[in-house]
Amino acid sequence: MEYLLGVDLGTSGTKTVLFDVNGQAIASETIEYPLHQPQNGWAEQAPEDWWDAARNTIRSVIEQSGVDAADIKGLGISGQMHGLVLLDADGNVLREAILWCDGRTQDECDEITNTIGRDRLIQITANPALTGFTAGKILWVRKHEPELWAKVRHILLPKDYVRFKLTGEYASEMSDASGTNLLDVPNRCWSKEILDALNIDDNLMPRLTESSDVAGYITSEAAQVTGLVPGTPVAGGAGDNAAAAVGTGVVVEGKAFTTIGTSGVVFAHSDKVQIDPQGRVHTFCAAVPGAYTVMSCTLAAGLSLKWYRDTFCQAEIDAAKEMDTDPYILMNQQAEKSPIGANRLIFLPYLMGERSPLLDSNARGAFIGLSAIHTRKDLLRAVMEGVTYSQRQNLDVLRQMHVAPETMLACGGGAKSPFWRKMMADVFNMPVKTVKNTEGPALGAAILAGVAAGIYKDIPSACAQVIRENEPLTPGAAEHNAYERVYSVYESLYPALKGAYSELAQL
Ligand code: XUL
Repeated sequence: MEYLLGVDLGTSGTKTVLFDVNGQAIASETIEYPLHQPQNGWAEQAPEDWWDAARNTIRSVIEQSGVDAADIKGLGISGQMHGLVLLDADGNVLREAILWCDGRTQDECDEITNTIGRDRLIQITANPALTGFTAGKILWVRKHEPELWAKVRHILLPKDYVRFKLTGEYASEMSDASGTNLLDVPNRCWSKEILDALNIDDNLMPRLTESSDVAGYITSEAAQVTGLVPGTPVAGGAGDNAAAAVGTGVVVEGKAFTTIGTSGVVFAHSDKVQIDPQGRVHTFCAAVPGAYTVMSCTLAAGLSLKWYRDTFCQAEIDAAKEMDTDPYILMNQQAEKSPIGANRLIFLPYLMGERSPLLDSNARGAFIGLSAIHTRKDLLRAVMEGVTYSQRQNLDVLRQMHVAPETMLACGGGAKSPFWRKMMADVFNMPVKTVKNTEGPALGAAILAGVAAGIYKDIPSACAQVIRENEPLTPGAAEHNAYERVYSVYESLYPALKGAYSELAQL
């Protein structure tokens, strides 16, 4: 039997799964690591933590499974996008990586827009300058940490740092490179025009491949610490959302998925480049060579619920430990006791500022309508509803762009909850399905490795062979109408609070 490895470098942890070539998970291991917030709105992680988690999870799944490492025909990596990893000439990490959900770079984004011109920037990179994207972070380090910047010889994205440790190659691929504001997205190459205009030496940028190309091979040093065989091919891999698309079969027109992980995403496949002129959603290269995606990003989706859990749910955490279950299961049971609309309580999930569709790094979270009648079950339900309304607002943008599907696939941690999936179906007013293969990005990364290693002919045929869908949950008319009344208030809140958010940021 032949096997494939998928490594998913997330924000809360790295999950590695060993699959057989039919997409069956044989062994899985996750190692978590911290997120550092040195200031309000900033977010950083240590690349060394990612590498430790990657090599130890790889070693663990090989040991757990008892599989002969020589039968592992390829490895693919999926990763949180946009993060800036800076290395010196010897490949040493120079500072903590600045992450996708860090909002410190509004001034640098304004500088990029003024230098290139908004229209030209969107024409080349398919997106406006966004604080989450990588280019603003590069300019920020250059301005604020010039001594450190002088030592930078290599710029990588998070998963590409793990690939570098595995293969010694400084490489990236189109889907993740699309989120840097430096890629010529329609032509799938670094934009010399933009790099020159921003005075970024193109020698700092990694070599580019497609997601399903071989990007390097396991070195003997990496083999020693992972248990893999030297020479095992490592695929280009993909940004986490592009990889999740492969892992859920969203690789042809008319298909879309939504995910609630740390971030929340609504993602549609498109055979051609489609751009929202207002920049409310992103246009990226897909993992499928030559194809594109339109997707939104809610910065604090699962992060909002995790924040709520860690701040207010010690009782559920303790009880779950005793019952050997997941605290989120107990939290779901509580939330279900509150009615639709959480007794007239609305949560705005802007804990890290907001990307899609607001593009406002000053926005912050809020409970609106808080009353002495409310208890924790209402607050909890309001958090889940607020995240779902945010996804709905982005789905509406995709609907306006005519790339929304008729049925939505759901994946990520949030999709595990039947209660949350039904909420999505009712709020979106569309059937919501899951796929039987629940490993999303890790499976997508493994499929990309399988194409790179020649096990599958191409991505769509691999997905057709491996991915199976479950029956959908359908929306209820009464529930949809009840949510719709709350949603229209939700939509009115950010415009009303925008000025206050901006003033608060100046304090
Ligand atoms: C996408 C985005 C997030 C990260 C982390 O633009 O910023 O989805 O990839 O998951």
